[in-house]
Amino acid sequence: MTTRILFVCLGNICRSPAAEGVFRVLMPEAVTDSAGTSDWHVGAPPYGPMQAAALARGYDLSDLRARQFVVDDFHRFDLIIGMDGDNIRAIEALRPRGVRIPVRRFTDYAPQSGADHVPDPYYTRDFDGALDLIEVAAAGLRRALMEGGGALD
Ligand code: 4NP
Repeated sequence: MTTRILFVCLGNICRSPAAEGVFRVLMPEAVTDSAGTSDWHVGAPPYGPMQAAALARGYDLSDLRARQFVVDDFHRFDLIIGMDGDNIRAIEALRPRGVRIPVRRFTDYAPQSGADHVPDPYYTRDFDGALDLIEVAAAGLRRALMEGGGALD
């Protein structure tokens, strides 16, 4: 069973820390982390408005700090989950030869949403909309993990 899951977005201050914060409440037995494909916010806590919106739903993100995705993450996790297509492409560009671990879109776990990515609330300012989608995808991810590994293959 997949237990080590890395959530990835661009800045690692909005979507992926929110995904981590939601998922660790939903499935505390899983090992979770998050990272950004950029180095823009390394060391920073999640964006204030994202933290506030998450805390209003009971998710405390205040212990999280941004870091950049690194090649070694392919060896340290069982499943890597990107928030949009750009994230997936940036991750796949770093995949070492011979490494087969799955890299999936978070919205693949929320087919009922009709969404093909998690819109970036840093730009849309819709933090609650992002959290709504993240909660649905997190529930779908938990279900997929319990049913068979979570890779959706
Ligand atoms: P995230 O959002 O990828 O969900 O963390 C962003 C946060 C900051 C920036 C871009 C996206 N930025 O340009 O600083």
